[in-house]
Amino acid sequence: MSRAIGMFDSGVGGISVLRDAVRMLPHERFIFYGDNQNAPYGVKTQCEILNCTQRAIQTLLERNVKALVLACNTATAAAAKELRAKLDIPVIGMEPALKPAHFLRHGGQILVLATPATLHMEKFRHLMEQYGEGAVPVEGYGLVECIESGHVAPDDPQLLSVLHKLLDPHLDVKTDAVVLGCTHYVFAREALRRIVPGAALVDGNEGTVRQLTRRLGENGALEAEGEGGYELHPSGGESVYLPLMEKLMSL
Ligand code: DGL
Repeated sequence: MSRAIGMFDSGVGGISVLRDAVRMLPHERFIFYGDNQNAPYGVKTQCEILNCTQRAIQTLLERNVKALVLACNTATAAAAKELRAKLDIPVIGMEPALKPAHFLRHGGQILVLATPATLHMEKFRHLMEQYGEGAVPVEGYGLVECIESGHVAPDDPQLLSVLHKLLDPHLDVKTDAVVLGCTHYVFAREALRRIVPGAALVDGNEGTVRQLTRRLGENGALEAEGEGGYELHPSGGESVYLPLMEKLMSL
């Protein structure tokens, strides 16, 4: 049987990437692992995130995956470099999609909503140096917990309250775009649209799948036929997280 692609996130956020990946690469098999037991990663130190990520991806490596997608901006910033140096398979990472958002700017601001850890790491500093004109980082405290507990409906009062608390202080300035710099936040897209109606909402999901496709193509490892599919594995709390993951896959 052909080798599967491993995909990892701290929790259910990476399901937003898996959804796109399954649609764009219908002949591939994906094994998704969410470390829900240890989420959120975004309030941990870089060292803690690196350790959690290394532990969590073992399950995927044991399944002999042909590529590893870090469907998590936070884990990428903390661990991608170490993993690439150690592993002999392609490691595809993510970063807040500030670059595409930068080109959507028409004199207003770009809000970059991401986890506190992502925004404080070296990788994001470099991104800001290149594309940070008019960009305002916003630490998404409370948002991952909200999504992990299934509050994803656009009119969910808890989700809207967290978003208002985070964004209202910034909305007295014209906002051209909001970067969804954490894969969990993609599930808050419709709620966000209500709060920042005129702004483009930019995520890096499709770009990540395109990068995965390119790397597999270079290695002659792309599946051009046959049935694809996916498996979902939470790191604990299966009775809660499996149904939530399935629900998010279907949104
Ligand atoms: N989904 C992750 C990301 O893309 C982070 C979530 C967390 O804080 O655990 O950054």
